[in-house]
Amino acid sequence: MASSTFELPARGAFPTVELAKKAPKQADALLIATFAGEEGLEVPGTSLLGSSALRSTYEALAAVGATGKAGEIVKVPAPQKAGAAQVIALGLGDVEALDDEALRRAAGSAARATTGVGTIVTTVVDFGVSAAVEGLILGGYSYRGIRSTELKDEEQPATFVVVADKSTAEEFEAARTVAESVLLARDLVNTPANELYPESYAAFLSAQAKDAGLDVEVLDEKQLEKQGFGGILAVGKGSARPPRLVRLSWKPKKATKHVALVGKGITFDTGGISLKPGNGMWDMISDMGGSAAMAATIIAAAKLKLPVRITATLPLAENMPSANATRPGDVITHYGGLTSEVLNTDAEGRLVLSDAIARASEDKPDYLIETATLTGAQIVALGARTSGIMGSEVFRDRLAEIGREVGENAWAMPLLEEHDEEIKSQAADIRNINAKREGGMEFAGTYLKQFVGEGIEWAHIDIAGPSWNGSAPRGYTPKRATGVPVRTVVTALREIAES
Ligand code: BES
Ligand code: MN
Ligand code: ZN
Repeated sequence: MASSTFELPARGAFPTVELAKKAPKQADALLIATFAGEEGLEVPGTSLLGSSALRSTYEALAAVGATGKAGEIVKVPAPQKAGAAQVIALGLGDVEALDDEALRRAAGSAARATTGVGTIVTTVVDFGVSAAVEGLILGGYSYRGIRSTELKDEEQPATFVVVADKSTAEEFEAARTVAESVLLARDLVNTPANELYPESYAAFLSAQAKDAGLDVEVLDEKQLEKQGFGGILAVGKGSARPPRLVRLSWKPKKATKHVALVGKGITFDTGGISLKPGNGMWDMISDMGGSAAMAATIIAAAKLKLPVRITATLPLAENMPSANATRPGDVITHYGGLTSEVLNTDAEGRLVLSDAIARASEDKPDYLIETATLTGAQIVALGARTSGIMGSEVFRDRLAEIGREVGENAWAMPLLEEHDEEIKSQAADIRNINAKREGGMEFAGTYLKQFVGEGIEWAHIDIAGPSWNGSAPRGYTPKRATGVPVRTVVTALREIAES
């Protein structure tokens, strides 16, 4: 089927990773694993090198001081008749400590260190198919932005030919599908807000979702008005670019459970009339990271054909100050009727999400997972790499555990009893900010809780920090958009599908 006519202005480059039963006769490099043993470097056997070639490779690596420590990358000339010019040794550290996350990180470093190399044959999947494939694709991704020049040869991501038994094909394909979905979320988040605004974003998602076999519904500002989406409209009305509500659904026949996904889609957050300071405001292009992650997740679920019904509800709006913007003190009426006093227009995420959560709850799903770049307080409490998860206790705890298992650090946070009182307003049912500074992340969670339907297991994942990497690349995490928490939610969906 024809893919989207609404293409993104730029996408990140990433390595090609393909599966082969046998190593090709000729390649540019061989990528092999090394370990740091008690007596130093260890080189495990690989089908890519015979015993004498393995021995001479070991000697060449030892001679240049390779240690096999985690993430170490050492390049040496390949032995004769190896079918490649060089051997690239990837340190996996202590063999006893090797787990999926260590492998994923090392593979990510390898992908970043091998741009411009060309075709690389590898057997590192011997230590974990999914982790190796995910690490190579996620780590090898880089977003160059919108440029007038082409990628230089030395910047070109490598092609990895993964040599493994045919029995790994299914796991290999699934890992590639998940990793490429994470890249979709990253591409969306990395796109600047003059290109990605509610209308263009909705059009792009529609096309992607239809290609993946999902049902799509997009509400424009008139339909939002008619149906009473007062939160989304209040946030969007300061912008010349009107808001949208996107609904994507995956309805496999065999499904017994229904999961609602909700994600914050603020395409740019200036703060509105409660304007943010100019310094660093630009990274609020990432304030739609929750919606990007949930869109990527439901697309991944469809490609994986997960036997679980999923509905994604994505409120998209641009938070701008203008003569038409919502003012501090305004009272708005959310979808479903609850009223809210907007004391700070920069606490806009909860306003759009509440409408979306109320709408998603109408479908009576078994579970509702929502994620958002919601509060600076999340970063103060947990740092930039650990998401805060609130909600129904058992489900919240399980999601936090899954996050840690897949390498997307997450921690369960309580909803605070005092906030049940403090959320009450003089002028409306509830107020959108707390009078006190304490527990800003949790207050936002309490706000959202008001809109979750009876009997639904729910979780709110605050990804303000983890969705964006403002520092240097590390492991399989590039600069800028990270794609968190796509892998956590995909894993949760797999688990629910099997339950
Ligand atoms: N989008 C921001 C939260 C954010 C901050 C995300 C930093 C990523 C990095 C959100 O809309 C916001 O502005 N929250 C306010 C809430 C406050 C006004 C109660 C905040 O955290 O300061
Ligand atoms: Mn804000
Ligand atoms: Zn925001």
